[in-house]
Amino acid sequence: MNGQPAAARNRVAAIGPQILDVLGRPVDAIPPGQGSVRLAEIKATAAGTAAGAAVDLAKLGAAVTCYGAIGADLLGEILASALTAHGVSTAGLVRKPGAQTSATILPIRPNGERPALHVPGATRLLELADVALVPGEYDAVLLGGPDALAGLSAADLETLVAAAKDGGALVVIDVLHPGNQGDFARLAGALALADWFWPNEDQLRALTGRADLADAVGDVLALGCGGVAVTLGADGCLLTCPDGELLQLPGLKVPVTDTTGCGDAFNAGMLTGLLLGCDRADAAHLGVACGSLVATGLGSDAGITSLGQVLEFLGTARAEVADRIAACAGAAAKGEQTR
Ligand SMILES: Nc1ncnc2c1ncn2[C@@H]1O[C@H](COP(=O)(O)OP(=O)(O)OP(=O)(O)O)[C@@H](O)[C@H]1O
Ligand SMILES: [Mg+2]
Repeated sequence: MNGQPAAARNRVAAIGPQILDVLGRPVDAIPPGQGSVRLAEIKATAAGTAAGAAVDLAKLGAAVTCYGAIGADLLGEILASALTAHGVSTAGLVRKPGAQTSATILPIRPNGERPALHVPGATRLLELADVALVPGEYDAVLLGGPDALAGLSAADLETLVAAAKDGGALVVIDVLHPGNQGDFARLAGALALADWFWPNEDQLRALTGRADLADAVGDVLALGCGGVAVTLGADGCLLTCPDGELLQLPGLKVPVTDTTGCGDAFNAGMLTGLLLGCDRADAAHLGVACGSLVATGLGSDAGITSLGQVLEFLGTARAEVADRIAACAGAAAKGEQTR
């Protein structure tokens, strides 16, 4: 792995939206009438707050299983084969007859922005009975996009997180939608039990109804959630310290092609860092590095190849952080430390 120590095979369950993204670039505008334009690139990827992060987690060395609902259709077949190609287990995917696999068409602008045309599809049909976690089976559970899981009640989400915690897993929650205060109320019970909440800044403001990010973070911590990392796009992230104070970690400048999946990559990187035993700030730096790398190519599976490659990239800007993470990875690989 590029001279870096291999990561321990931490076991992660990625529960939530399993979305097939179809992306094209560069798109200045949709042509009028029946006009057509030639693009440089069109790609299909396994994406969404569960599947997209799962692919990055697998590249970073974790043994990942996806849990979510897909349709009994060709989109679902493509999505499952994309996950399998990245070494992600699809054992937790359930097919919902009559529903289509969740999918998004993304015409990527020349500056990397990504307007999205989305069919929610089967994701919302996942039920609690579809997610049978065996206690102790996972080191971490990423509940990505519970706001999109309409088939699970607030009590179901809380039950799911409680079961994961009882099984000894580190539990992280992120959201998919722009968010509103109704969503925040629905997620409150799950957030109260979770170790971490990692939304972007716009989502956190919309969820809490707070303009000030420190106030918004305070609302999440007041529920009982263990910690918050708020992603800030090119500006990096805000991270809560154990005393509740906020630390800003700057972004890493990269040539941007497409920002699809940057948040999922941040989640994969930060979760990998925590599972390797890094402190929260170093883990968040790893998340920021992963988010930046994904922005350099088309689709949520772009930019990242391995933990060693991400650490080489991070090392060019923050050598001491990359060295500490590599040391944690080395120790974890030797079994000296697991979390
Ligand atoms: N334009 C950019 N340049 C450099 N890094 C970026 C850029 N956009 C995002 N990133 C990196 O990706 C991380 C997550 O990005 P962002 O805040 O956009 O997440 P998000 O809105 O949740 O994305 P997603 O829609 O994929 O879930 C940031 O913390 C940053 O490290
Ligand atoms: Mg996000």
